[in-house]
Amino acid sequence: MTNNNNTLKGKRILISGKGGSGKSTITSLMAKTFQKKGYKILVLDGDASNPRGLTGLMFGLEEKNFPRALIDFFGGIGKVTCPVDDPSPLTRINDNIPVPEKKIEISKEIPNEYFIEKDGIILFQAGKIKKYGQGCDGPVEKVVRDFIVKGDYVNLIDAPAGIEHFGRGISKNVNILLLVLDPTLESISIAKRVNEFCDDIGMKNFGIILNKIEKEEIKNQMLEKLGELKDKIIGVIRYDPKIVESALDGTSLVESNAQNDVKMIVEKLEK
Ligand SMILES: Nc1ncnc2c1ncn2[C@@H]1O[C@H](COP(=O)(O)OP(=O)(O)OP(=O)(O)O)[C@@H](O)[C@H]1O
Ligand SMILES: [Mg+2]
Repeated sequence: MTNNNNTLKGKRILISGKGGSGKSTITSLMAKTFQKKGYKILVLDGDASNPRGLTGLMFGLEEKNFPRALIDFFGGIGKVTCPVDDPSPLTRINDNIPVPEKKIEISKEIPNEYFIEKDGIILFQAGKIKKYGQGCDGPVEKVVRDFIVKGDYVNLIDAPAGIEHFGRGISKNVNILLLVLDPTLESISIAKRVNEFCDDIGMKNFGIILNKIEKEEIKNQMLEKLGELKDKIIGVIRYDPKIVESALDGTSLVESNAQNDVKMIVEKLEK
């Protein structure tokens, strides 16, 4: 089955939020939902600081079976510059044309070792912190910002935790920004700050997802604290013990009730 809805094809969706709010879980659940709907999906693990990352979460793989870091394709951490020191776009090793201008053709350009392809989902990992003192992860964020591919893929990008990457302009090439909020005041204050960033850069497609919602009362408290921002909510995902179980087992995420909540979010995005 191929999906005929063109609204999201080729679009880049950034999933952002505070540490532990559920970005990676939601990215995985969204990828599976898109897959069931017949989309081609590209998932980019853009979080340098979580070693297990999406490859473990989505496919239950061990680190030795992970794909090679995408930053190596662009020459490694020594070649790619941090977008704050050098805002210029990402380029290939032997080609000065910026990637955002000349989009990457995955099948022609990128060797298999750099991604995992399974059941209609292609997964890349931008880069991981491997060595003590290796330096700023800005270069990895430039890869996340500018890794723009040809084709109909719905691009799901699991952003680094927090809001530092906004300071590095990661949201520049993003079509839809989703912010995941767990029930904490930290998440509420991040939402307010990110909303200001969106106003500043004219980003209209900004949606909030409330995650780990155990009961109506908690949801209502969050709505109250969000004030006007509650209009930006595009979905609410319940607290689901099945997610906790599979996170501890290290198995890939099993069917869960939260999947239904995510399906509703995807259907909203399609409209
Ligand atoms: N809806 C949910 N119900 C229950 N547990 C959840 C839910 N969403 C996420 N979790 C759990 O919360 C923890 C954090 O989730 P996850 O790793 O997806 O967050 P993250 O934002 O990607 O974190 P990090 O900032 O470390 O990358 C995990 O243990 C995950 O299993
Ligand atoms: Mg994560």
